[in-house]
Amino acid sequence: MTVLIEQPNLEPQFEEQNVHAQETNELVLDGGFPLPKDVSPDAFWAPEINSFGHSFRDYDAESERQKGVEEFYRLQHINQTYDFVKKMREEYKKLNKAEMGIWECCELLNEVVDDSDPDLDEPQIQHLLQSAEAIRKDYPNEDWLHLTALIHDLGKILLLPQFGELPQWAVVGDTFPLGCAFDESNIHHKYFKHNPDSNNPAYNTKNGVYNEGCGLNNVMMSWGHDDYMYMVAKENGTTLPSAGLFIIRYHSFYPLHKEGQYTHLMNEEDVENLKWLRIFNKYDLYSKSKVLIDVEKVKPYYLSLIEKYFPSKLKW
Ligand SMILES: [Fe+2]
Ligand SMILES: [Fe+2]
Repeated sequence: MTVLIEQPNLEPQFEEQNVHAQETNELVLDGGFPLPKDVSPDAFWAPEINSFGHSFRDYDAESERQKGVEEFYRLQHINQTYDFVKKMREEYKKLNKAEMGIWECCELLNEVVDDSDPDLDEPQIQHLLQSAEAIRKDYPNEDWLHLTALIHDLGKILLLPQFGELPQWAVVGDTFPLGCAFDESNIHHKYFKHNPDSNNPAYNTKNGVYNEGCGLNNVMMSWGHDDYMYMVAKENGTTLPSAGLFIIRYHSFYPLHKEGQYTHLMNEEDVENLKWLRIFNKYDLYSKSKVLIDVEKVKPYYLSLIEKYFPSKLKW
């Protein structure tokens, strides 16, 4: 079943602002993101610092945590290869690790800590609900977007023993395509020089194994929670619209949605879906806060959305 959704109502300055964000290569808060058309006084406003007192996604700030983040990207860039992703996709496509409902998985995710995230120190379910509730406030009619926010990080269960206990570099962090050159906009790009694919002539040109405009659906992305959750949703027959699946699958693809690179691999549908991903990203990034959501209070609403868009039990 296809669910039809309206295209987002973007203000004309959207393109200009993003060009600005790319040129200066710095985080532009609300200014760099499209806002909903009629902003209400209690709409979600992005804070300027995270709960550690740093700018969001500030990977250069001097702190122990930042060093850990850099080491994380060193490992990720060396170990994520085309062959590795192929193997992971084959393994996880079997969906033979567990059977459970979406809400059950939200609760399970609380056992997970994401080492790659410099902004987050709260239980994962709080991040899911904080982003979902913030986006719900600004886009009250797009219920599919609320649910997308709720489930976008569920794939992080890959870190848990029952789901293969994958290392952090195979689950979290920014994602990027394999099978073509690593664009310089990738965070800590220098570590790619130790990735075997960098020396493979089949994989180290701009297009690599792809044709221009082939569509991201045909591109091998680095393996992680994004692609895994997309696979789970899709294979279990979700009725979420294509934009929702796109957000889940590419929300960590910062070189695309923040830096505007790799666009030559997109097709027309990707271009449309990217508009929604950019909207979503603001809430993913800036809704992380110490103000906790009352889980029991909002649970009935999200259970109703889960029932609308998913079967009661999914294969994982
Ligand atoms: Fe994520
Ligand atoms: Fe997230």
